[in-house]
Amino acid sequence: MIETRGLTKTYGEMTAVDHLDLSIEKGDIFAFIGPNGAGKSTTMKILATLLRPTTGQAYVCGYSVIGQARHIRRKVGYMPDFFGVYQDMTVNEYLEFFAALYKIPPKERRRMVGDVLDLTDLSYKKAADVSSLSRGMQQRLGLARVLLHDPEVLLLDEPASGLDPRARVEMRELLKELRNMGKTIVISSHILVELAELCNKVGIVERGKLVYSGGIDEVLEKLRRPGIVQVRVPNDERERARALLEDIDVVKTAVLRDDLVEVELDAEVTDPSIVARVLLNAGVPLSLFRQEEVDLEDAFLRLTKGQVA
Ligand SMILES: Nc1ncnc2c1ncn2[C@@H]1O[C@H](COP(=O)(O)OP(=O)(O)OP(=O)(O)O)[C@@H](O)[C@H]1O
Ligand SMILES: [Mg+2]
Repeated sequence: MIETRGLTKTYGEMTAVDHLDLSIEKGDIFAFIGPNGAGKSTTMKILATLLRPTTGQAYVCGYSVIGQARHIRRKVGYMPDFFGVYQDMTVNEYLEFFAALYKIPPKERRRMVGDVLDLTDLSYKKAADVSSLSRGMQQRLGLARVLLHDPEVLLLDEPASGLDPRARVEMRELLKELRNMGKTIVISSHILVELAELCNKVGIVERGKLVYSGGIDEVLEKLRRPGIVQVRVPNDERERARALLEDIDVVKTAVLRDDLVEVELDAEVTDPSIVARVLLNAGVPLSLFRQEEVDLEDAFLRLTKGQVA
């Protein structure tokens, strides 16, 4: 659905996107992740045909962003990170206006506008002035606008930025609905944990280069250090617990980490419960016992520090 090959964009001396190869399939929900200035917005603008690549190629729905932009624009809905607010326009007028721009025939316009208002839960605000909407509502209106021409591909640049926790959850539910409708969606964000349950693929960029791309589950698996077990014991028992654990044959190291004791087991150990047994036998109370969990936040930090090839 989306394919980039050696995609590069330079601004003078500065290389914003550096030989990027992305491959996103139909129905994928792709988390586009990277620190500030990594080149996410630039890449999305190129895919939306608003910017031309300096070198390299990008294809969306089989069309090249160079020379076939008109075809792409019909298939793609692009929501920028910032969009202006229009004064003295009601929600309904705003959407009618964009429906006209998208050349939706007048007869269909009312139906389409009604559909996207329903989908984004804004019907009750259709007579309200756009400028009177809250930030979260404006964000949803922005999404409603890019859905008007029923695009197959959605490019959403930080759709949840600036939203309060409830609005973020609502935005996520809305995106799930769009996912279930079969849309292909690229979402850029810094809020990684929010994307984990929504997306099936992830691409991590840093300074214009792709550091990792693949399935979300695979990236988490790849980053999980095997044989790491963490336990929490009362503060005054921490050192004793550490020493007890270090004495176990199959324990390589036992260290204090934050408020936990972290144990690294020999690779061949399949049952880590010995760690808990030793502590309980010695009368050390245990309030937590777990294998190390890796979330996207960790993945991001490790990958962008170059800790994983
Ligand atoms: N119009 C421009 N002129 C010059 N440099 C630009 C321009 N647009 C972007 N850049 C530079 O390109 C690099 C990538 O910017 P981009 O906006 O794509 O990053 P981003 O990953 O979206 O960052 P953020 O997370 O902050 O939104 C940055 O170093 C930025 O300063
Ligand atoms: Mg950006």
